[in-house]
This record gives sequence, C-alpha cells and structure tokens, in this order.
Amino acid sequence: MGITVTDYMDEDREIEQKLRPESFEGYIGQEKIKSNMKVFIEAAKQRGETLDHVLLFGQPGLGKTTLSNIIAGMMHTKLKTTSGPAIEHPGDMAAILNDLSEGDVLFIDEIHRLNRMIEEILYPAMEDYALDIVIGKGPAAKSIRLDLPKFTLIGATTRIGLLTAPLRDRFGVIHHLEPYKINELKRIIRRSAKVLAVEITDGGAEELARRARGTPRIANRLLKRVRDFAQVKYEGIVNETVAKESLDLLEVDPMGLDLLDKKMMNAIIDKFGGGPVGLDTLAASIDEENGSLEEVSEPYLLQLGFIQRTPRGRVVTELGYRHLRGEY
Ligand code: ADE
Repeated sequence: MGITVTDYMDEDREIEQKLRPESFEGYIGQEKIKSNMKVFIEAAKQRGETLDHVLLFGQPGLGKTTLSNIIAGMMHTKLKTTSGPAIEHPGDMAAILNDLSEGDVLFIDEIHRLNRMIEEILYPAMEDYALDIVIGKGPAAKSIRLDLPKFTLIGATTRIGLLTAPLRDRFGVIHHLEPYKINELKRIIRRSAKVLAVEITDGGAEELARRARGTPRIANRLLKRVRDFAQVKYEGIVNETVAKESLDLLEVDPMGLDLLDKKMMNAIIDKFGGGPVGLDTLAASIDEENGSLEEVSEPYLLQLGFIQRTPRGRVVTELGYRHLRGEY
C-alpha cells in the first residue's frame, strides 16, 4: 500500500523541528515576504514598538508556522501558539490574551476556524489592546475593560475567504505564501539532506523537487522516505534513479500527484462524465473529506491545469486526461 503524501503524520517530530530554519538566512524562497518583514521588524524595533498584527495565508505546508517562529525570534521573543479549533469558548480566548506579556507574539493557526463570539473578543484586543469582559447577566450585566500588554498577533490560514472582513481588516500586514519553484525546493531539499546527513546528487534533488508539489513539507517528507529506500535497497546515496524508483514505489507520480489526486480525477471522469460536478457530490462519491479535496488536491490540480473550476463544478481538462494516460 502506498502512503498518501498529504497525510498529516505525527512521526519524526524531532527531525521535523531540525529541518525548520531558525532565521531568514536559512529560510529559502518567499523573497518578497522576507524582505518586507525585515523592514517592518526593523522599523518596529527602532521605534521601540511591537510589530503590527500579521496575517499569513497559503496552502498547507508552505512554512507559515516556520515563518512565524522566525519573526518571533527576530522580535527577541518566543512564539505562543494556539489554533482556531482549540479555542472553544470565549473564556479560553480571554485567558490566552490575559496571559500575554508585553511584546509577546501570539500565533493562531487556522484562524478562519474561530467562531464569531471568540472573534469579537479579538477585535478590541487587536485594536486597542483591551479585553472587554461582561460581568453578570440580564439588565444588571456590566462590561468592564481590562488593559492588555501590547502584543503581536500572527494569524495563519489556508482559507482567507472564510475570514470575516472585520477580522481581516485588523491585520496591518497580510502576506500570501506562494508555492515554491523547483529551484527553491531543490535548495530546501539539499539543506534538509545536510541536516539529515544523507548524500544526494543534483539529479536526485531535482527529481524530489519535481514531485513535491511546490511544498517544502512534502519535499522533506519525500526526502525522509527516499532516504529509507536509499539506505536499505541501494548504496545510501539518493541519485536520480534511486529517487525515481523510490517515489514510484511510494505512488507519487512524476508530477507529484498522489493516490487521492488520481482518485479525484478518475471519479470526475468515470462517475460524472468528466464533469462538471460539485465538490460536495464528488467528495461523497469517493468517500473522502471535502476539506482534503478542497485544500490539498484541488489547488494543486488547478495549478497544473489538470482540472478547471466552472460555475457548475469541476471538470477534467484535456491536459488532465493526457496526464492520466501517462503522457507526461
Ligand atoms: N523547511 C521548510 N520550509 C523551508 C524553507 N522555506 N526554507 C528552508 N527550509 C525549509
């Protein structure tokens, strides 16, 4: 059975940590974001202020958390991390905010998943560094305002469209992380190979980069698996042949498509005559989560031009058909 490269696996957390760059010097790609952030951080430091709130959006695995850790480090503080789904009650959010110290950087992953009531606590916190607390119920209820230390909120989201306008508007800096180019991924893979002490040739790095669908997290995961094949079945070196054969065994095809991508395309073709078909109907027909199709498979297939989005649903393109026929 093949692994699905898009699975979130818990394995090797420690290695994962080591593969993450700790400064902009080690962070490859996203050049515009890096150079802009350097200016904003420097300016805030010169004025002795905290950095304005930052919103990072982009597909999973592009380095939003890594970037946030680096930003916190540059502001000489550690990132305090939470996530949208982890904050269930307004009281949880109030407690997190109340626990902050001056200059802290608070990271909220999947910020689009905060509910409305919790968002409303964030508005005065972001705008005025204040926490409005309602005491009592009914006509006797009173609102008191507590001062919060000045802090920076970094929100990360894969779905900026799901953010409410009032929340989005309270971020002073908004950055869109783009998929990485092959050359950037090659550099990331070479850097990771060094960290993992595995020998890799230029051809090996190129092959991995081509199949990593623009995403460092996937590049690193593939590298770790190919390293296993290199160690057990070959002579330990990841060259082009080793990379190709191992990735074929992992069922990651030459363009980086995995089993889920193919399942999605084949279902559009076999069950819906090539489309158009709505995403919900499609997901139900193959017993997959709507979310993984929408956030992981679809963006990549759209990017490659293998599917198209029409007002009536998704269709497989001629290019997509050609790819499935093995005409790369
Ligand atoms: N690992 C994950 N993302 C990275 C990046 N952008 N640069 C270097 N290493 C990384």
